[in-house]
Amino acid sequence: MSVDKPKPWMEGMIPTLNSRGFMSETMDRFSMAFIDYAAICGHEVLDMGCAYGVATREVLERGGSVMACDMEAGHVEILARETPEEFRGRLRTSVGELPAADFPDGSFGAILCSRVIHFLTGDQIRLSLEKMYRWLKPGGRLFLVADTPYTGFWFSTAPEYERRKAAGEEWPGFIDDIAPLLNRAAPPPGMLAFLNPLDPDILRRECERAGFAVEEAAFTGRGGEPDGNQHAGVIAVRR
Ligand SMILES: C[S@@+](CC[C@H](N)C(=O)[O-])C[C@H]1O[C@@H](n2cnc3c(N)ncnc32)[C@H](O)[C@@H]1O
Repeated sequence: MSVDKPKPWMEGMIPTLNSRGFMSETMDRFSMAFIDYAAICGHEVLDMGCAYGVATREVLERGGSVMACDMEAGHVEILARETPEEFRGRLRTSVGELPAADFPDGSFGAILCSRVIHFLTGDQIRLSLEKMYRWLKPGGRLFLVADTPYTGFWFSTAPEYERRKAAGEEWPGFIDDIAPLLNRAAPPPGMLAFLNPLDPDILRRECERAGFAVEEAAFTGRGGEPDGNQHAGVIAVRR
């Protein structure tokens, strides 16, 4: 039975089928940098946590080849169904969940993982980055975007994050139990109990730990807004 794509929750924000946030129909500058690179790198690229394919679709329209992967089979099904026939030869899809998902070493010219890894614990982020390093071809690029403590329902935790960061905690944005922040007794079905909002320093540290050379790590705003701190992004290169 085919799955229907949900209606936007608010303009440009499409709910995921598994309560793992929303797909934004407008992309931040790190995702746009991925698209620019993906269109010219000459190799297949990976869109990990693709949701309904906002980035995948843009790469396909610009002539690139994409492996679109998400933990939710319904997302991948909708993405494939909505992909115009003329692009289908350059699209591969798979259902996989970080950190267990795997691809052969040296598979991709670039990887985008946008607004996914804040759903992982620190150890899961480390394992995922080690894998992404291997999945890239030498010289390949990783574009990571994560939610920060300054976004959405988590905004009220920002002062606590700042205090824990100043105290030198390794994962200062980590929230054990998100339910009270959503005014609920328990997380929505499919959502995890915890969240791990990140910042540019953490993205840099973890990419370097995995062996990448970091080109840039910075805060960025939502969607097309360059100013802001709702998201953290990094561009990192496999040596
Ligand atoms: C907040 S949405 C972001 C979608 C899109 N990449 C964007 O930037 O708008 C998170 C997406 O990542 C997927 N996801 C969350 N955790 C994941 C994991 N551990 N492995 C693979 N996909 C995951 C969800 O199913 C969802 O489609």
